[in-house]
Amino acid sequence: MDYTHICRKFEELFGKEYSLYASPGRVNLIGEHTDYNGGFVFPGAIDKMIVTAIRPNGTRTVNAWSYDMNEAARFALDEKPTQGWALYIYGVIVEILKRELKIEGFDCVFGGDIPIGSGLSTSAALESTFVCALNGMFDLGLSKLDFAQIGQAAEHNAVGVRCGIMDQFASVFGEEGKLIRLDCRSLEYELFPFHPKNCRVVLLDTQVKHNLAASEYNIRRAECEEGVATISKVYPEVKLLRDVTPEMLTEFKNQLPESTFRRCMYVIKEDIRVMEACAALQKDDYKRFGELMYCSHEGLSKEYNVSCEESDFLVDVAVRNGVLGARMMGGGFGGCTINLLEADKYDAFIADATAAYSKAYGKAPKIYDVCIGQGSHKIK
Ligand code: GLA
Repeated sequence: MDYTHICRKFEELFGKEYSLYASPGRVNLIGEHTDYNGGFVFPGAIDKMIVTAIRPNGTRTVNAWSYDMNEAARFALDEKPTQGWALYIYGVIVEILKRELKIEGFDCVFGGDIPIGSGLSTSAALESTFVCALNGMFDLGLSKLDFAQIGQAAEHNAVGVRCGIMDQFASVFGEEGKLIRLDCRSLEYELFPFHPKNCRVVLLDTQVKHNLAASEYNIRRAECEEGVATISKVYPEVKLLRDVTPEMLTEFKNQLPESTFRRCMYVIKEDIRVMEACAALQKDDYKRFGELMYCSHEGLSKEYNVSCEESDFLVDVAVRNGVLGARMMGGGFGGCTINLLEADKYDAFIADATAAYSKAYGKAPKIYDVCIGQGSHKIK
């Protein structure tokens, strides 16, 4: 990403001395809503990111400028800011202070090229950028796992979304050309080279973000916990849905509300799909990988009920164009679909999706070609 505009703005506001830190957004090939259930996910960092120019200012005050919002925020380290975007920075500060680490105020200008609200985790990128920067500037000695966990805690406590660890983990640990299969219970991970032969991955942005997203997210999480609470009365070793098999869950069919049963079954099956998809990728079996993506979408749409009309529409367009696999990505209720397709189908698919979506919704979906990029880092 070209960040000269960020440097220029910093120089204009605060002077010539600063460091630069960056963290990317993420995609997730498969494994949705499994992370907070202790299951598996398969994300990668992307080459779209947030960059901040930053420097300690020797006070207890933060002076932040959001380039993309064209707005300033000024707040003390222990004072909640009023601007929504500044909450992410504040949230990170609060979590660092909770760990009794010493930081000071700072001046910063940040911006990026991750489309906001498209389900590519701008928020995780923002959190990771600031944990990484504060760790670097104040020598906090945090590990990469600390970065991810601080970002996640900021999201829970300052923003109010009880997200899993996937987005922050991918943003921090991402490596160029590699996907991460993360076990969200043990936090062990394995890197998978991702250079699909004759295939491409493309995102289609519905450009809608239904405002149900945050509240429904927390409701889904509570439904999963409700399932676990019932099952663990009989099987005390069950701590998370990760510990439950489809057969075990079926034993409780009559004791759980119908929708809770459906949600839990989706999660359990999605976990199984992640493992199968990774095995398919290792054999370069993109056809099978794609089928599993479609199954994932079906589950997200019909069982977990986190899709929306626009995402379902774009997945249908993928099916009729012979795309190998497509599904909604991320928390749901809008954002992008992720599509895996043979390179020679690309042009026709994009043309059809653009025309059909424009006709149905009055605007073309935005198209992003995916490159798997590097995780959080200091630029200079
Ligand atoms: C959001 C959350 C993640 C994960 C996904 C769904 O992106 O931040 O933790 O739960 O939704 O897979």
